Amino acid sequence: MGLFITFEGPEGSGKTTVLRAVAAELEKVHDVVTTREPGGVETAEAIRNILLDGEGMDGRTEALLFAAARREHLVQKVLPALEANCIVLCDRFVDSSLAYQGYARQIGVEGVQRINDFAVEDHHPDMTIYLDIPAELGRERIAINQREQNRLDKEDIVFHDAVIAGYKELIAQNPGRFAVIDASCSVDEVVADVVSVVRQQIEKKSIEN
Ligand code: TMP
Repeated sequence: MGLFITFEGPEGSGKTTVLRAVAAELEKVHDVVTTREPGGVETAEAIRNILLDGEGMDGRTEALLFAAARREHLVQKVLPALEANCIVLCDRFVDSSLAYQGYARQIGVEGVQRINDFAVEDHHPDMTIYLDIPAELGRERIAINQREQNRLDKEDIVFHDAVIAGYKELIAQNPGRFAVIDASCSVDEVVADVVSVVRQQIEKKSIEN
């Protein structure tokens, strides 16, 4: 029944670049679907525009919109791909809401968990790749790449440090699900490390089934 792998990390961790390269490698042998949150399907991309552009909004509204986009994307894209036995590589999932809204935005991790439990029911990732990078290096990379910054990217250093601290808590609470990859080395090395842990997960799942 497919394999659901999510990618998490702070700004500048190289998540999107790494995900694409990992997909290119896996596609040589497997059916792979790559996607992202918030977005991935039309309705969720529309919610993404509301979330990431424009002015600030109430923290709970923000969390609810991320959860709504997540639900639509899950139902329309992720679940059908898993049913078709694909490997789904998804750029961000529930952990992002826990780290960004729950911890960094400080609206309460438990509340964010509850609305996400409602949104995803019992559909959880088989494995979550966490691209581990110190906050300063992430900021340097963003500055060098001159990447277009969205509303959340523009939050201050305290916010981004809290995002990383939030992720560290989540990793401590879910050691079996997270694969923590050192993302401070070259893209090629990071991609090789991720491909290796994903291959182990594919093997594990095929033995289980
Ligand atoms: P991206 O930069 O990885 O495309 O993600 C978009 C932004 O949205 C990023 O700043 C992280 C943020 N985000 C949340 O705050 N909560 C969420 O649940 C998700 C999926 C993303």
